[in-house]
Amino acid sequence: MATPTDGISVDQPNDILNELKQFDDTKAGVKGLVDSGIEKIPAFFIQPQELLPKSSDIAPPTLQVPIIDLGAIHKDTGCYKQIVEELKQASDSWGFLQLVNHSVPKDLLDEVIQGVKEFHEGDKDVKEKLYSRDRVKKVRFASNLRLLSAANWRDTLTCVFDGSLDPSDIPPVCRDAIMKYREAILQVAETLYELLSAALGLPSDHLRGMNCAKTQLMVAHYYPPCPEPELTLGTSMHTDPSFVTFLLQDDLGGLQILHDGHWVNVAPIPGALVVNIGDLLQLVSNDKFKSIKHRVLASARGPRISVATFLNPSFDEKKLFGPIKELLSDTNPPLYKEFLVDDYIKAYISKGLTASALSPFKL
Ligand code: OGA
Ligand code: NI
Repeated sequence: MATPTDGISVDQPNDILNELKQFDDTKAGVKGLVDSGIEKIPAFFIQPQELLPKSSDIAPPTLQVPIIDLGAIHKDTGCYKQIVEELKQASDSWGFLQLVNHSVPKDLLDEVIQGVKEFHEGDKDVKEKLYSRDRVKKVRFASNLRLLSAANWRDTLTCVFDGSLDPSDIPPVCRDAIMKYREAILQVAETLYELLSAALGLPSDHLRGMNCAKTQLMVAHYYPPCPEPELTLGTSMHTDPSFVTFLLQDDLGGLQILHDGHWVNVAPIPGALVVNIGDLLQLVSNDKFKSIKHRVLASARGPRISVATFLNPSFDEKKLFGPIKELLSDTNPPLYKEFLVDDYIKAYISKGLTASALSPFKL
């Protein structure tokens, strides 16, 4: 019997439930299906028509998310101010940006992508042993974080760095790369939080002081080639519940964001890190910054590898969260009520992937 912790949503017809269970029991993920030579995708991967990509909804390729170059950040105050201004614009009108010259070496980024690929393409027993959706396990592997119809065409290795993760639980093929990458991301995050604080008109240490990178949830996705890519999605439309997300993607493309009613491709840039504002930062900024809907297309080309790192407060943070007081005024009243991180996580878990994590907290 499926329970909420094994992540199969029970609220669906029995035949679909059985198919999902059978698939889940293989513990081999979507990659296992592809390796078995299927030419048609199982019905539970088929998305409702209205959620499938339509060419009329795609923005012209000239429209691109802003690129922010951190190369000159320490050159002089003029450069610093310019970067803050660009970041402010990007966080407000796009919610997504690509960071370049961020100081994480390209070799390390390549090593992460390669290590994650080797894990997903490696020893079946290693993957089987890690196959779980139990939140108590800090390192786990599964296809679809929550398995339900319509499922996504991808498999994921999850690492939850919350202070209790034992690095030796991370598969050896990608362990070193992931540990080094995590350190590097935390460093870039320090700089980014400083710049975002300035972009909100706050002292530069304000966001760092809110402890919003304490927990890092890293999801290393593998999107196998799909025999019927027009019927499914790699990742359904959603916003990230995080404070900030760093995304490393390989060179295949497929990530799209919803900007002014059109889907904009986030074109891969070698060495860049995609950064997006999560729901929690939208909330504490009182909607000054935007958490934007995005999705990943399925493709006949693949595999595509990406690694999303969600920066979050500590899950047992006891401080109340809400719109930052210093940003509020008579003309900018709070749009959200205050809450504990734990309430936020519970609300997130009980909602579907596509619903916003913010609505329960709206005033
Ligand atoms: C995510 C996500 C995008 C990608 O994991 O939340 O949006 O390119 N991933 O895999
Ligand atoms: Ni996302």
